[in-house]
Amino acid sequence: QVKVQAIASMLQSKDTIPPEFVRMEDEQPGATTYRGPAPAVPVIDLADTDRVVDAIADASREWGIFQLVNHGIPAAVIGELQRVGREFFELPQEEKEAYAADPRSGSIEGYGTQIQKDPNGKKAWGDYLFHNVWPPSRINHGMWPRLEGSALKKALGGEEMDMLLKINYYPPCPRPDLALGVVAHSDLSAVTILVPSDVPGLQISKDDRWIDIDYVPGALIIHIGDQIEILSNGKYKSVLHRATVNKEKVRISWPVFCSPPPEMMVGPLPQFVSDQNPAKYKTKKYKDYQYCKLNKLPQ
Ligand code: SIN
Ligand code: FE2
Repeated sequence: QVKVQAIASMLQSKDTIPPEFVRMEDEQPGATTYRGPAPAVPVIDLADTDRVVDAIADASREWGIFQLVNHGIPAAVIGELQRVGREFFELPQEEKEAYAADPRSGSIEGYGTQIQKDPNGKKAWGDYLFHNVWPPSRINHGMWPRLEGSALKKALGGEEMDMLLKINYYPPCPRPDLALGVVAHSDLSAVTILVPSDVPGLQISKDDRWIDIDYVPGALIIHIGDQIEILSNGKYKSVLHRATVNKEKVRISWPVFCSPPPEMMVGPLPQFVSDQNPAKYKTKKYKDYQYCKLNKLPQ
């Protein structure tokens, strides 16, 4: 498969992109991004022990996303993650292809680009590198803030929780008003911990408007994903988001998807279900949920 990075480097014109990258009008960032005053995504201080639990619960109910500061992960460690990610994409194309994802292997690990066109024949402007980072039997190292004793963590497999690192690489795009790096979606993970770069581009849908997420230096962006929405029976919501691209600059992002082990049964927890508030989601194995979502089948 031809990578977007290769297409971008061959473009002749400074203001056109191949038609399969031009989104339908109701998706084009130029036409659909809300430019009025909008409330900012909550910034939560993990070191503020008196308030942090309530602040996370409120943000998860009202937004499904927040930015985390004072998270204790050294800036040098995050900087190293960013450096090696960037270096990978700067390798010559044929060297990167040695790590190409193999769809027949049954694993999503590796270097790739969105192959499937959507129903309108459109493609997204970005490539990626996926690799497992947890549990140790499948990797090298991972990061996960300690939330001991939590019912949600246990329901997600505790230390057996899977962590998958994706490095998104969005080449400069002549028409950032028309293209999207990643189309609107919610994450199928439990939570996603995203290391942003100083080239912003992440947008969330809030009150039916697409709004930009500010870059907060040093902050991690925490998305609530589908599995937390399901476990909490809809109390905490999985945030709808998309990625835009930049005219001059490469944009990179480093999300870590934290998910239950494939065989784990996930459904609304009893403490979130009552006669007044019956279960809104089916209980099923995480791998079955994942299969249905990736293949766009009903849950
Ligand atoms: C994604 O949600 O997959 C991408 C987010 C980003 O690049 O900021
Ligand atoms: Fe996402």
